[in-house]
Amino acid sequence: MAPSVSISILIVALWVLYILMHSTTMVIAAGSGAASNSSALELEAKALLESGWWADYSNDTFLNHCKFDGIKCNAGGSVIEIDRVGTLYYRDAISKLPPSFGTLSKLSHLDLSRNSLTGKLPPSFGNLTRLVKFDISANSITGSIPKELGNLTNLTHFSAQGNRLVGELPLSLANLTRLQIE
Ligand SMILES: *[C@@H]1O[C@H](CO)[C@@H](O)[C@H](O)[C@H]1NC(C)=O
Ligand SMILES: *[C@@H]1O[C@H](CO)[C@@H](O)[C@H](O)[C@H]1NC(C)=O
Ligand SMILES: *[C@@H]1O[C@H](CO)[C@@H](O)[C@H](O)[C@H]1NC(C)=O
Ligand SMILES: *[C@@H]1O[C@H](CO)[C@@H](O)[C@H](O)[C@H]1NC(C)=O
Ligand SMILES: *[C@@H]1O[C@H](CO)[C@@H](O)[C@H](O)[C@H]1NC(C)=O
Ligand SMILES: *[C@@H]1O[C@H](CO)[C@@H](O)[C@H](O)[C@H]1NC(C)=O
Repeated sequence: MAPSVSISILIVALWVLYILMHSTTMVIAAGSGAASNSSALELEAKALLESGWWADYSNDTFLNHCKFDGIKCNAGGSVIEIDRVGTLYYRDAISKLPPSFGTLSKLSHLDLSRNSLTGKLPPSFGNLTRLVKFDISANSITGSIPKELGNLTNLTHFSAQGNRLVGELPLSLANLTRLQIE
């Protein structure tokens, strides 16, 4: 009698322990997976919001950034295209672009043409190494082209005419071997 009761208790205890361990493992796995994904995506959303170019969305909860105007994401939720041609309705400084823009590591198309952007091009654009198309034409951007743009070795289209840029083209741009001269 007594031994069989304690064996039953032992079995129940082991079963409860198994369920607890199993569900804890599941929760930890799901939690860390979601956290690692969403933290990278949250940084991308934060970078977009910090630019001030999507002020209308500042009340949105994070991870909605793929629905922002002119934004295209890949299947994983990373921003791959930004198209804000003539849609930034106010004079704004391109140089206030937050350093966090460099976290848009999948960005391949960035078109900011035909706006009223002022100020200097920040060197942090050199972090967007996936860029294939980069268009800042027809703005009021001043200063010179930062040498860091020589890091954008995948660039095939770069357009900066119609600005108030001065100075010589940096030598580093010679590294942009895929650039098509139009
Ligand atoms: C965002 O929230 C603030 C304060 O709650 C509100 O005043 C503002 O109108 C909201 N903006 C938008 C675009 O919903
Ligand atoms: C999470 O990240 C993995 C690997 O980076 C990716 O394959 C997956 O699509 C992502 N899931 C979501 C919901 O973004
Ligand atoms: C961007 O590049 C600068 C140097 O140009 C570097 O200091 C910074 O850490 C980079 N930022 C990101 C987010 O990669
Ligand atoms: C250039 O693009 C390819 C394909 O998207 C990518 O694998 C590679 O890392 C890019 N180069 C740089 C310097 O980011
Ligand atoms: C970007 O370019 C600058 C100047 O051309 C260089 O000093 C720097 O090491 C480069 N950064 C990366 C991440 O390639
Ligand atoms: C071109 O790239 C190479 C390798 O990344 C680097 O060593 C060199 O300094 C670059 N040239 C210029 C002019 O920036």
